[in-house]
Amino acid sequence: MNTHWEDLQNQIDIIKKKSLYRKCVETSGIDFCSNDYLGLASNDELKEEFIKNARLHTTGSTASRLVKGHRKEMTTFEQNFSEFVGTEASLIVSTGYVANMGLIDTIADSQTIIFTDRLNHASILDGIRISGGIKKYYHHLDMDHLEFLLESISLEPNYSKKKKIIVSETLFSMDGDSPDLKRLMKIKRRFDCTLILDEAHALGVFGDSGRGMCFEQLESEEIKNIEESTKIYEREDKIRKEKEFINKRSVELSILDEKANSLVKESSSMIETNLKLRESLDSLKSRLNSRESELNTLSLSLDNQRKDIDAKLEALKYQELRINKIIKERSIDELLKVNNV
Ligand SMILES: Cc1ncc(COP(=O)(O)O)c(C=O)c1O
Repeated sequence: MNTHWEDLQNQIDIIKKKSLYRKCVETSGIDFCSNDYLGLASNDELKEEFIKNARLHTTGSTASRLVKGHRKEMTTFEQNFSEFVGTEASLIVSTGYVANMGLIDTIADSQTIIFTDRLNHASILDGIRISGGIKKYYHHLDMDHLEFLLESISLEPNYSKKKKIIVSETLFSMDGDSPDLKRLMKIKRRFDCTLILDEAHALGVFGDSGRGMCFEQLESEEIKNIEESTKIYEREDKIRKEKEFINKRSVELSILDEKANSLVKESSSMIETNLKLRESLDSLKSRLNSRESELNTLSLSLDNQRKDIDAKLEALKYQELRINKIIKERSIDELLKVNNV
């Protein structure tokens, strides 16, 4: 019988045979694949802020938020962020991976059916897995297929007892495509589902002031409706608390202690890193505004250049007409001369 390690080695060998073995390589050359779309990672202002804060506080949180890692700056950040994206509450965590795992694990259980776009990020799939929820894939961006799956499930005997969640990214980074959010909202309402939208790649880039794809595709009333979906949980006390956790102030200690482990029990220095963005939110907004005005100037100058080119083309056409006319007249003259008329 193989040892555990021999088994693992066999698994790796099989992966290698299928040419699916993955390796991290040091990057070089021009960056066409990072998700640092706004260049914030190398922004000097942010770097300065980061160093200043590291001197002022600790480089790590020293404990989870539940123990002693919580700081008032976190609350301030969350309030600022909520204001920015127009939500009732926010919860800052170290990474998007942790956010998806914690959120889905918190609101789903074995009685929950989770409809997930086939190409959703691994963190969403891991969240579904650890929640114990029932996973149903729908074809990438295919709202007809999603609707078909929901209709089929609504015919099952225990359907009414099941909670339903639809989860999708709003911008798929690999292909750069997006779901039809208006249609997604209609489906969510029709089947009384909770809708989770992951704005990881759209925030800062799409929507008014970079507030995300929801602001690009939906009206503000529709955006409010996304949160409204948690109301289906109000009947049960335990789940009501979870609703509070998502919608109300984020530091409801008893609730967080009970469920959202990955959100408040991490003691990662990454939260500290993210906090530096608190001061940078304004800088992000002004950066977006200045990018917008840069683009406006650019498009203005392009417009002027286009007008210039149009005018030159017009002049060239006029000259061409004149030349053609001269050639025609000359050839008539020459024809007359040759024929001695
Ligand atoms: C849609 C989506 N959600 C979540 C994540 C995870 O975010 P993080 O890299 O911050 O863990 C990613 C990572 O690229 C992502 O593409």
